Amino acid sequence: MRPLRVGPPAGRLDGSCRVPGDKSICHRSLLLGALAEGESVIEGFPGGADVCATLDAVRRLGAQATRTGDTVRLVGAGLGLGPTGEVALDCGNSGTTMRLGAGLVAGGPGLVVLDGDASLRRRPMERIAAPLRQMGAIVETTEGRAPLRVRGGALAGIDYTLPVASAQVKSAVLLAGLRARGTTRVREPLRSRDHTERMLAHQGVRLARHDDGVSVEGGQTLRPLALTLPGDPSSAAFLAVAALLLPGSAMRVEAVDVNPTRIGAFRILGRMGASIAVEGGRDVAGEPIGDLVVRHAPLRGTAVTPEEVPDAIDELPILAVAAAFATGETRFTGAAELRVKESDRLAALEQLRPLGVAVTALPDGLVVHGDPARRLRSGRIVTGGDHRIAMAFAVAALRAEGGLVIDDPACADVSFPGFFDLLHALGAVVEPA
Ligand code: S3P
Repeated sequence: MRPLRVGPPAGRLDGSCRVPGDKSICHRSLLLGALAEGESVIEGFPGGADVCATLDAVRRLGAQATRTGDTVRLVGAGLGLGPTGEVALDCGNSGTTMRLGAGLVAGGPGLVVLDGDASLRRRPMERIAAPLRQMGAIVETTEGRAPLRVRGGALAGIDYTLPVASAQVKSAVLLAGLRARGTTRVREPLRSRDHTERMLAHQGVRLARHDDGVSVEGGQTLRPLALTLPGDPSSAAFLAVAALLLPGSAMRVEAVDVNPTRIGAFRILGRMGASIAVEGGRDVAGEPIGDLVVRHAPLRGTAVTPEEVPDAIDELPILAVAAAFATGETRFTGAAELRVKESDRLAALEQLRPLGVAVTALPDGLVVHGDPARRLRSGRIVTGGDHRIAMAFAVAALRAEGGLVIDDPACADVSFPGFFDLLHALGAVVEPA
């Protein structure tokens, strides 16, 4: 896709919409469905590049999967899942495919080589290699990064304390633990998203949840899944902030996952003065779901603490954009993990500065000086191939006089296929640059 210019709509943003199915839950439904006995049916498959990489991976590992539109039928191979010889998995841009994938194959047969694009090859992988080696797998990294070579085998459970709060590392260890002898326990410094725990419980796996983490006994049979994926709150956050930045706007995002470990950004926006409600709460496969109703409201700056970071980790870029239009200062700390996401997101957010926003990057965070009356200067944004940077600046563009050029809008497809079309349908200017 060629660069796009995104600019303010003529009026307010109004209406009801849906966002693609939750990426984190989707990855897990494919990986855990592949380990289950029998056929899983996953509806609302979001079809972004990341989840397609996981779908391809589980097929290569021996699960049978067919996709028809947004329905995936997946016949799991049970706890014997894995190739007989050597297999290569292309994880593309997806850290979740690579890290959870490594945990999945660590307890299986064969040799699995996991690789990805230039961005994924820059991201730290020792964080999963170290615990998987402790369990007995042979894991080689390339100077701590991808490509990874994982030779699975007979694993033994471990008691592992995560050095960083990371649901990907926690889940990699738990997935390996499902095929390990004895108990695998993971302790986390701060609670991270708990979709793996919820889905395993839904599949009939007995696990124990503790104040500081979770433990699971290896060798249990997983039941197949039948679920419709809820909307992704990380995608909904872009639309929520769009509505908050345009006076008079009101937006309903239907059927979104509202798991407390995923909606930290909405809690922070609420503290900043946003009007956000959850309506029609229900439960799907152990996950709470509801409609998010967001109405424009003036925002004020806040301090986002290290303890709040895990529950809002993927939304920090769009929160930084919201902060640019809030009264006073917003300070994010304890967010050094943002430097090792799909791009160095703290560095990428410094692109707010030439648009007229006073921002200071910290080693582990960002300080943003907001102004509710602000109009941004126009400019060209380098996304670095990072979907959330592309979408965060596209939302910022709704308050930029001459709009902003997004150099690589196609990268939004990683998590939110159709994002720019939706923005256009809601009334924003979206045109070839
Ligand atoms: C994810 C966990 C988070 C998040 C990523 C998806 C997951 O990463 O940033 O987009 O599905 O487990 P970390 O666990 O590395 O923080």
